[in-house]
Parts: sequence; C-alpha cells; structure tokens
Amino acid sequence: MESDIMQIKIDRVENTRIHEVDFGNIPFGREFADHMFMCDYKDGKWTDFRIEQYRPIEYKPAMLGLHYGQTIFEGMKAYRNINGEIMMFRPEDNFRRLNRSAERMCMPTIPVDLMMEALRELLKLDSGWVPKDTESALYIRPFMFATDEFLGVKPSETYRCIIFTGPVGPYYTTPLKVMVEENFTRAAKGGTGSAKAGGNYGGALYPTKLAQQKGYHQILWTDSIEHKYIEESGTMNVMFQIGDALVTPPTGDTILQGITRDSVLTLAVDLGIEVEERRISVEELKVAHERGQLKDAFGVGTAATIAPIELIGYQGKDMVLPPVSERLLSKKISDGLKAIRYGKVEDRFGWMISMN
Ligand code: COI
Repeated sequence: MESDIMQIKIDRVENTRIHEVDFGNIPFGREFADHMFMCDYKDGKWTDFRIEQYRPIEYKPAMLGLHYGQTIFEGMKAYRNINGEIMMFRPEDNFRRLNRSAERMCMPTIPVDLMMEALRELLKLDSGWVPKDTESALYIRPFMFATDEFLGVKPSETYRCIIFTGPVGPYYTTPLKVMVEENFTRAAKGGTGSAKAGGNYGGALYPTKLAQQKGYHQILWTDSIEHKYIEESGTMNVMFQIGDALVTPPTGDTILQGITRDSVLTLAVDLGIEVEERRISVEELKVAHERGQLKDAFGVGTAATIAPIELIGYQGKDMVLPPVSERLLSKKISDGLKAIRYGKVEDRFGWMISMN
C-alpha cells in the first residue's frame, strides 16, 4: 500500500500526566500515556503522519466506521528489561496481522516499516510510561477505522490509523471459570473470526454476559456447526495439557493466529514438550477429566499472556482442574516467556526488538 515519505510532525505535550498514575497498582486498560500517533488514508495513500497529545477525537455521525464495522485493531506490549532497555515483543508480527485483518475487512494495508518507525518515535516520547516492574508492561493499541461520511454499505475511501499506549497490569487477576458455549457462536467458517475486527468482540459480549450471570468469567467457544470442538476462550486462544501433551486447536478462519499462541508452542517444543495442534472435542476433555488426564487448561493472548483456567462448565456440571500451583508445564512455559521478555535469558528466537 502506498504512503507518502513518512515525516512525523511531533507536537509534544507541555505537561505530562504520568504523575497521576499509581505504577504500583495499574489496572488493565484504564491509563493512557501522553501521546498518540495518527495518520490518514486518502486519495489511495497514507499521509499526514503526526504525534500529538492523547485526547478526544471528533467525528461526524455518518462516519462509516461507526456503522458497518470497518474497524480493526491490534494489541501488543513493550517491556522494560532488567537492563532498563525498552523492548517490544514481536511487534512486526502484530503489524503483519493488522494487515491481514485489513485485507479481510476490505481496508488498506499499512507498511510494517512505517508502523515500526511510528512506534519508535512514540515510545521515545513516552518511554517513562513503560512500567519498571516485571508484572506490568506498556500495552500498545494500533487500530484503524473507516472515516468516509457516507451511509451506503461499501468500503470507505478514507481511513484513520492511530497508535496509543498505556501502562497495564494483569488482564485477569484470578484463575478463570469458563463455560462451554453450545448455542452462540464466536466465529463461523468463512466469517471474520481470524481477523482482529471490532465486530468479533462486540458479538461475543451478549453470550459472555449470560455466562457471567451463571457465575462464569468467560466462554469456552466451540465450532459454529456442531458446537462440539473447542475454538477459543473469551478473547484468547486456548490450550490444554492432556496427559503429558500440550494440545491446542489449529488456527483457521475461525481462530485467531495468536502471537502469544505461536510463542508458547515454539517454547514448548524447545522445552521438549509434546505439542499437538489438532481438533479437540468437548467430549474428549470430559473423558480426559474423568480419567484424571486433563491436567491443565489456559488461555493465551497478548493482554492476558497465560491465563489459567480453574474450571470448565459443561452442560450444568463443572470440570474442576488441578490447583494452579500443581501445573508445572504451563508454569515452565510462562517462566520461560517472561525470562525472554525481561532479558533474563538470551532471546534465541529473535522475538525481542529494542526500541531505544
Ligand atoms: C489482546 O490480548 O491484546 C486482546 O486482543 C484482548 C483485548 C481484546 C483486550
């Protein structure tokens, strides 16, 4: 996709808000750093690159992105490693996925190099916002939406892309109770399930609310045809330890190609763990649980990293999993990932990118 030569106009804030943040107790998704990057797509190219104060933006009520769902996003994290350097975890993979989502939603792609350069500039200005402790990170939210003022249903001709950031603590603070969903569907074959499109998340809210009314935190999504095979959990990919093997459903057009998912599988193989990417039926989980073989279940995603599942509700009964303290395999992977992110061990996979 074409873009003007990128020259970023920088309008630095006069007064930082950083002193208002309690870095010892950061909730997820409520604090936002001082600056944001923006650019616009018009006349077939990306233009008007700028960094300015994180602030409200104004749009006309007829803006297409507000009506027909041409809106996509990414989630990624910057860490401060033990040497004080600011490091990103696989950011180019996120920008490549943003472009895959863009293609699926009939939106323009945006050059990965351009996004990386924008992020570097943004992080230079807001480096103080990257938390210093190893339980937190700077969450980065690139997103893009349609901006034509028009009510016909067609791809917009103009778009805005924004990157804003904010320090975050853990997304989940307790192990999750999840419920197998047998009526509602997150994603159907041929649909948009593998894109990070806003509508996928909006459509999940109602079934999630119903599950929460029954005492669960999140849904364990099943396939749209038979509601028999596991797909994702909440907003995350999902993995199980059955016996000694780490098992996860294969990605496809109903399952997001998670970057944390890929990293966990890569690390698991590296640690000598048997990994199986294959369909998993709810029935298989039930039988494995009855035989004491379902040793672990966890969600994986950028926001939550590795989120242990405490129990799985299925047809009115709960399959309670072993205590989190006994789950050595996922702990090993989680510790391994953390050690790479914070620079405690050598990054043999080339995942960490210095943003200094
Ligand atoms: C992420 O893990 O970054 C996600 O996409 C979850 C988000 C919807 C909070």
